[in-house]
Order: sequence, then structure tokens, then C-alpha cells
Amino acid sequence: MKRMKDKRVAVIGAGSVGKGWGNEKAAAVRLAREGARVLCVDRKEAAASETAELIRAEGGEAQVLCADVTDKAAGEIVMNAMQAHWGGVDVLDYNVGISQRGGVLETSDASWDQIFEINLTAAMRLTRAVLPAMRAQNGGAIIYVSSLAAVYSAPYSYVSYEVSKAALVRLARSVARENAQYGIRANSILPGMIATPHVNAYVDKETSPETLAAQRAAMVPMGRQGTAWDIANATLFLASDEANYITGVDLRVDGGLTA
Ligand SMILES: NC(=O)c1ccc[n+]([C@@H]2O[C@H](COP(=O)([O-])OP(=O)(O)OC[C@H]3O[C@@H](n4cnc5c(N)ncnc54)[C@H](O)[C@@H]3O)[C@@H](O)[C@H]2O)c1
Repeated sequence: MKRMKDKRVAVIGAGSVGKGWGNEKAAAVRLAREGARVLCVDRKEAAASETAELIRAEGGEAQVLCADVTDKAAGEIVMNAMQAHWGGVDVLDYNVGISQRGGVLETSDASWDQIFEINLTAAMRLTRAVLPAMRAQNGGAIIYVSSLAAVYSAPYSYVSYEVSKAALVRLARSVARENAQYGIRANSILPGMIATPHVNAYVDKETSPETLAAQRAAMVPMGRQGTAWDIANATLFLASDEANYITGVDLRVDGGLTA
């Protein structure tokens, strides 16, 4: 029996910013391999289509939605698409996250607002859009991809990212508490040092990707970075009925970095 058979999943940020496997590109494929029907949502149509094509090439079911989460109507747009394709939603997987380096003194209001809009406020709006349908059917699972930065300080500062991701963890717990009575679970995942194209997209110009990878691996007790599949497997578990008594949890996937 497939672990996600017939589950209707919206993966928000289902593409990858570069070649290779991003966390939720891998999660979308992993969920589909277990029988989920996946709406691949991304602001870049090509990125969402690539993920959907990978799913279809393996015989899975996927649809594409080009939407930017900063659009205040994104929640309704996603929900309408889920209704139109499959008559509803069972899982919301919110993955979009951006960062900008800088401590309190270097961070402008505009930068802070932009990071919070994407990392937190949009997640809240998406949640608000799916909850009525999940409540009506008495069940659903929501996964927020936060970051270890919510609880752990890197050698450099990126305060808006750290604080927004910490708030996302709290959002998961608030949603979990408020909706447990409706059979809805909400959890967050805190990826540690994961080797994804996302990391290289934010590297400073002086550091080569190889140097960065070695530096990141050296920080981890396991001696290596994780892969997008580690996050995908955690997502699959939390999305599946195997986790049906788990809600309000912040799951660190970090190779022991915060052990
Ligand atoms: N890689 C790591 O080491 C690491 C560590 C901690 C947390 N994370 C978190 O993991 C997530 C990134 O995972 P990934 O590797 O799949 O990321 P990614 O950045 O490669 O992919 C995210 C996708 O989101 C899309 N996107 C960006 N802004 C959008 C918007 N406004 N509306 C709609 N789509 C948008 C991009 O086009 C991209 O396809 C982020 O939330 C990040 O904070 C990553």
C-alpha cells in the first residue's frame, strides 16, 4: 500500500532555484512516488513544470500552478486549483523561503518586510485558505519548511531570516493547537546544512561552492551535509497517516548539529 495513496497535496515552492534537487522539488517527487496527487506551485512556471514532468515521467499525477506567494490572493488561487483538479486538499506543504544577510543594524525595513512577507505572512495566508476545506472533511496535514536558523546561530547574521523562520515554527504550533479538534495536524521541519542549489544561490562572491560545502560539512557532527531527500523523507513522514498522532512538532533534520 502506498503511503500517500490518493492524497491531494499542494507543494508551494515546488521548483528549485538552480540545477539539481531542492528540498521541495525532491519532496514533491517523493510524495508522488507514494501515490500523492501533487499540485506543483511556483512563481516560475518552468520550475514547477520541471518538477511536474519528473513526476509524470515516473507515472505519477501532477499539475502545475504558476503563482507568486506574495500575491494576497495566492491562497484562494491555490485552493481553487486544488478544487478544480481533485475536489479538495489533504496536505499543504509550504516551502518558499528567502534570506538576506545582515544583522539588526544592516537590515532595512523594506528588507525585513520582504523576508517576512515570503517566509511567514504568505504561509499564514495559504493556511487560512486551506483550513476551511480541511475542517469540513475533518482531516489534513500542514508542513512548514522552516530552518535550523530558527534556533541556531550561524557564524554570520541574517536576522530577518532567523526571526521569520522562528515565527514560522510558532505558526505551526498555533495552527496545530487550534485545529487538532478538526483532525488537522501542523508541523514544521528545520533543515540544517542541506546541499541544495538554494545554498549556492546565496553564497557570497568570495566563496566557491566547493569551499562553502566543505565549511558546512565540517560544522556537522555527522561530517557531511544532508541532501534534499532527507528533507523530502521527513516531509513524507509528517504528511502521511503514519504521523497521525504527531502535531505541533518542530523536527530538526540536521545531522546532529544541535544535539
Ligand atoms: N538548503 C538548506 O540548507 C536549507 C536550510 C534551512 C532551510 N532551508 C529552507 O528550505 C527551503 C528552500 O528549499 P529548496 O531547496 O527547495 O529551495 P529553492 O529555493 O531551491 O526552491 C524554492 C522554489 O520557490 C520558488 N519561489 C521563490 N519565491 C517564490 C514566491 N514568491 N512565490 C512562489 N514561489 C517562489 C522558487 O522559484 C523555487 O523554485 C526554504 O524555505 C529555505 O529557507 C534550506
